[in-house]
Amino acid sequence: MTNRPTVFCSVFMAISQDGFIARPDGALDWLDEANRRMPPGEDCGFGNFMARVDALVMGRKTFDTVRAMGAWPYGDKPVVVLSRSLQHLPQQTPASVHLRAVQPHEVVESLRKRGLHRLYIDGGATVRAFLQAGLIHEMVLTEVPCTLGQGIALWSGRDLPAGFSVQNERTYPFGFVQRHFLFKSIEQDSEAPKVHP
Ligand SMILES: NC(=O)c1ccc[n+]([C@@H]2O[C@H](COP(=O)([O-])OP(=O)(O)OC[C@H]3O[C@@H](n4cnc5c(N)ncnc54)[C@H](OP(=O)(O)O)[C@@H]3O)[C@@H](O)[C@H]2O)c1
Repeated sequence: MTNRPTVFCSVFMAISQDGFIARPDGALDWLDEANRRMPPGEDCGFGNFMARVDALVMGRKTFDTVRAMGAWPYGDKPVVVLSRSLQHLPQQTPASVHLRAVQPHEVVESLRKRGLHRLYIDGGATVRAFLQAGLIHEMVLTEVPCTLGQGIALWSGRDLPAGFSVQNERTYPFGFVQRHFLFKSIEQDSEAPKVHP
């Protein structure tokens, strides 16, 4: 028997040892610096993860960060950008990106109707909203060996949201520690996706 939902929502994020995904102003300099210590070709399972993602849902602030990085990294994979402040997307945005201002369950349902079942949810506030709505099934959090003191947290306090447990933990020689969390109803599913097949 399987507990797998029809839509499977995942998070794949880097996190500081004190639980932040970005500095208070959104800066990722600490992550860029840590990434420079990774051996060439190492991606901590991100390529495998992306290969099983049908579509992305990201908050407007994460969209701003991704755009500022230069070339669009998601090819023609469908992306939904959530925003109430943006009236339209910047001109150079790929046609695969759509702007919505809807609640998490509505975006999940509209993607499901398009046959898009494996969703990558990205952005601190956005992930928090999906967690609160009970829509996140899997989180891959890669802890980077640094502390920020303050910043944007995925959730308040140090504790993992209720219902998640560690399925797998991997320590990399360059100091990253990656934990694969599954929501309890998914745990027993032998066909649940693996980050490192
Ligand atoms: N460490 C990592 O792996 C990692 C990964 C991803 C992102 N980040 C960093 O995290 C930071 C962004 O996170 P964040 O928490 O500040 O913001 P975020 O989740 O990326 O974006 C928040 C914004 O999304 C929009 N939004 C969210 N839910 C919505 C809804 N239901 N309907 C309409 N709009 C909605 C709102 O945009 P409007 O204000 O336009 O209305 C809101 O201000 C960036 O600095 C990024 O670089 C780090």
